[in-house]
Amino acid sequence: MPLTPISKRLSGPLTPRGCTNVYGSRFASEHMPTDRLPEDEMPKEAAYRMITDDLVLDGIPMLNLASFCTTYMEEEAEKLIFESANKNVIDHEEYPRSVELEQRCLRILANLFHSPEQNGQTTAIGTACIGSSEAIMLATLAMKKRWKNQRKAAGKDASQPNIIMSTGVQVCWEKAAAYFEIEEKLVPCTETRYVIDPAQAVDLVDENTIGICAILGTTYTGQYEDVKQINDLLVQRGLDTPIHVDAASGGFVAPFVNPGLVWDFQLSNVVSINVSGHKYGLVYPGIGWALWRSADYLPQELIFNINYLGADQLNFTFNFSKPASHIIAQYYQMIRLGRRGYHAIMGNLTRTADYLAAHLQNMGFFIMSEGSGKGLPVVAFRLSTSQSLFFDEFALSHKLRERGWIVPAYTMAADCEKMSMMRVVVREDFTQSRCDSLIRDIELALNALAGDEMRRVQRYQAYVRRLRSGSYQLLMLSRFVSSHMVPEKMGVEQRCIEVTPLITPPPEEA
Ligand SMILES: Cc1ncc(COP(=O)(O)O)c(C=O)c1O
Repeated sequence: MPLTPISKRLSGPLTPRGCTNVYGSRFASEHMPTDRLPEDEMPKEAAYRMITDDLVLDGIPMLNLASFCTTYMEEEAEKLIFESANKNVIDHEEYPRSVELEQRCLRILANLFHSPEQNGQTTAIGTACIGSSEAIMLATLAMKKRWKNQRKAAGKDASQPNIIMSTGVQVCWEKAAAYFEIEEKLVPCTETRYVIDPAQAVDLVDENTIGICAILGTTYTGQYEDVKQINDLLVQRGLDTPIHVDAASGGFVAPFVNPGLVWDFQLSNVVSINVSGHKYGLVYPGIGWALWRSADYLPQELIFNINYLGADQLNFTFNFSKPASHIIAQYYQMIRLGRRGYHAIMGNLTRTADYLAAHLQNMGFFIMSEGSGKGLPVVAFRLSTSQSLFFDEFALSHKLRERGWIVPAYTMAADCEKMSMMRVVVREDFTQSRCDSLIRDIELALNALAGDEMRRVQRYQAYVRRLRSGSYQLLMLSRFVSSHMVPEKMGVEQRCIEVTPLITPPPEEA
């Protein structure tokens, strides 16, 4: 007799007549919709429970040390986000106070980044974006349009724009170059230098260069590129090539941890800066900021005047609608923390990063990032040859995942992509005691991997010994060898060594 699916026999809505418990309802015994809108409604309790249960399999954000994005905010900030979740900040007429908060955040950032002032007012203009990627796209487009306008005004060809950057840029720069048809002139990273070489960058400048990108905190190692050196070289050579500073992470770190570092609008050629509010700006993802030194650097063609929302308003973002909630949350963090609060948090993060780097170094790892606040609170490291290990960073990353930690392993930028490495982004909620747990788990993971390797080697050795001793195994081995075309002139012993790694590992010894 064919079995009736249990869902058919027990189907029915969540009503007092049926089982009111979500797990007793048909929804618990049916597949969740994956590619079609369901015909019927689902009770809200069931929808909520099914989705919550599904999301349990996501990683735990606090243990996700791969991400630069904020994973903790105070309850009051979360409340503000929730309470303003239904406001679209593009509706300037309807939400003038939210728009005012965006302007306040921009003025605060302009001041933090030493924008020039006229009559006590900043000359900078800017906008909130969905993240640094959008801000970088806008800034790149602005540099391209400005260059094009200048070329046209001089009666020169404007069909071959190029942009100079290191191979260590975040992918959004490659996107910007591809989307806006700009040639990338890349300064290679090397196995000992993971940031741009200022002299090489400036040497690449030609009449078609729309600008140079300098990164304040690279994604790979968190190091700061030397913006001042690039600026000084340009000035020395009488070049007015614009610099855009990608301060996605460093914009909210350097001013507090390393206030003496000169990287921002204090430098004459820095025309625009982006910073992610959702990284060290300490707001949940999606908010970034784009700022230009003055309106002169944002060509008019990029600014649209719209009036169909009830009043004239200027707009120069890619997206039209945008949540007000993250702008409000950014303003909350700014007034709640002030300079002292950001300084205290970023100072702690820097100390924790240094503490972690010191422990990793003691374990024999090679540290690639810079400590003591000379870079982001990020620890980039790799296994060193002195550790004489059989496994790589990817295996270690995988092992740590078993304990819930997400510590990514990845390969370095183009030109040194053979180099694999790992990175821990120290964020606000990564306290010293959580860091201690990570250190312990890295030690355990290293021991476990070394033990696994040793057992595997012993199993192979026993296997090879068995193969050598039995005639049947030798027959099988010789078949295997000939089917894998191992050169005939090799002796059996040599063949054993050559082919053993190709054979499926033997089962674990009892
Ligand atoms: C240096 C740098 N620039 C740009 C970005 C892109 O930022 P977002 O994720 O805010 O779009 C990142 C992201 O990690 C980054 O590290």
